[in-house]
Amino acid sequence: MQKRWWQSSVVYQIYPRSFQDSNGDGIGDLKGITSRLPYIKELGADVIWLSPVYQSPNDDNGYDISDYRAIMKEFGTMADFDELLSQAHRLGLKIVMDLVVNHTSDEHRWFAESRKSKDNPYRDYYIWREGKDGGAPNNWGSCFGGSAWQKDEATGMYYLHLFSRKQPDLNWDNPVVRDEVFDMMDWWLQKGIDGFRMDVISLISKPDGLPDGEAGPTGYASFLLNANGPHEHEYLREMNRRVLSKYDLLTVGECAGVTLEETKSYANLDGSELSMVFQFEHMDADADPVLGRYAKQCKDIPKLKAILSRWQKGLDGIAWNSLYWDNHDQPRVVSRYGDDSDEYRERSAKMLATCLHMMQGTPYIYQGEELGMTNFPWQSISQMNDIESLGNYRDMLKKGLIDEQEGLVMLRARSRDNARTPMQWDAGENAGFTTGTPWLPVNPNHETINAEEQRSRADSVFHYYQKLIALRKQMDVIVYGHYELLLPEDPDLFVYTREWKGERLLVVCNFSGKEVPFERPQAFRDARRLIANYEEESPEGVVRPWEAYVLHQQ
Ligand code: GLC
Ligand code: CA
Repeated sequence: MQKRWWQSSVVYQIYPRSFQDSNGDGIGDLKGITSRLPYIKELGADVIWLSPVYQSPNDDNGYDISDYRAIMKEFGTMADFDELLSQAHRLGLKIVMDLVVNHTSDEHRWFAESRKSKDNPYRDYYIWREGKDGGAPNNWGSCFGGSAWQKDEATGMYYLHLFSRKQPDLNWDNPVVRDEVFDMMDWWLQKGIDGFRMDVISLISKPDGLPDGEAGPTGYASFLLNANGPHEHEYLREMNRRVLSKYDLLTVGECAGVTLEETKSYANLDGSELSMVFQFEHMDADADPVLGRYAKQCKDIPKLKAILSRWQKGLDGIAWNSLYWDNHDQPRVVSRYGDDSDEYRERSAKMLATCLHMMQGTPYIYQGEELGMTNFPWQSISQMNDIESLGNYRDMLKKGLIDEQEGLVMLRARSRDNARTPMQWDAGENAGFTTGTPWLPVNPNHETINAEEQRSRADSVFHYYQKLIALRKQMDVIVYGHYELLLPEDPDLFVYTREWKGERLLVVCNFSGKEVPFERPQAFRDARRLIANYEEESPEGVVRPWEAYVLHQQ
């Protein structure tokens, strides 16, 4: 197997709006990011994924782009971007950009043209259909609630938007659209960026004939219906041939609805498509079977283990995994699978980190995860901003699936806003994020949970992440080792081994606040402890609450 640089990398994701404000307008910006590069360097991550920084009317906080070759005014200028890129490179940090090309903003020049008339040269850049029986062309629901179709005044036809009305889907079947996208990608690569994270890239090829789907209660049906369409791999291979293969890049496709089998094509080690994908099966492990992810949490550790293990084993030697718990679309993992109370927050955050970072694949850390940042204590829906959770909330209220109180409980646990509250830099006002009024409230727990405090304390979550990253840089068994799950049925313990060229690791993680009986396997009797979240050795026969440790046998 040929080794690639991105296999031993650790990626740090920045959500620019919430990372660091440099001019007091309450919104994070590029200069702010540049000023914090040394922090990421200190942590040890070597790649930064920037969520979108392009010009956008911000209907979906930058995931609705109106000009792919301009920087959002609130974030700064192209000169600020160039400065960020060169400072990052000077520190040995790579920059991966978000690429949002399933859709544009409705304020993009292409769409402004497209909607003008049926014979406009840009008409076929988007997906237009006549209505049916006085309504939308089919029954697809938008991922943000409501129909996926919007009737447009000028021509009386409907355009498709799998996300908000202000995010019309591009028509990838049009070769001119592909030319435009590939040119634009090349323009950024010429600047020297190091790769792309491709937004909902699994949705670009729509099913032939756009058939009706089974309309699920939350409108997610069209999401699944559109995943991995008939020309998906053809278009990605074309992109690879025409653009990606000319550079040495990290590419990661966000692949809603992707299966393990499909991933063997998307992320094949032969390099014909992408480096890796973000799959969603483990994110959906706690979703409600009917209402989906915006519903009550159904934690099921054996299920979570089965999913992650299937991906670990299924891709080994064939394709490459990404590893993540958190991103800008997910609630905070310590509040989700850990225990965010004062007593166990740090312990459980370290346990979750251990469990993920000892697997095969490229780990992603979302800003603040390395501090064990938690969900926000939302008091009311009116404090929230996220178009997706609010859209689904309104839909579910309207359909009588929830009442307001249940809705608040649901969004407290699930809203994407939990990930988007400002980064907690210090204990001061607004956590050092801004001198102005932050666009989303700062979590009051920044007084105790913040980067400054953790950098100064040896046993902090920050230093634990630092150590995990350093170990990955030193040990091939962590990067490449074969994976084997032990105790699949155990409801609390997540235990697995890794093996590479005679070296072996045992990873033991307790996903509960209880003491759980456990007999250490014979093969690891004299193994050395590599990293652990308790100072004292684990006692014989049990694993302590939220305990995690890794043993290394040579
Ligand atoms: C992806 C992004 C998400 C965005 C959506 C539409 O899922 O991660 O933030 O809302 O695509 O672009
Ligand atoms: Ca700012």
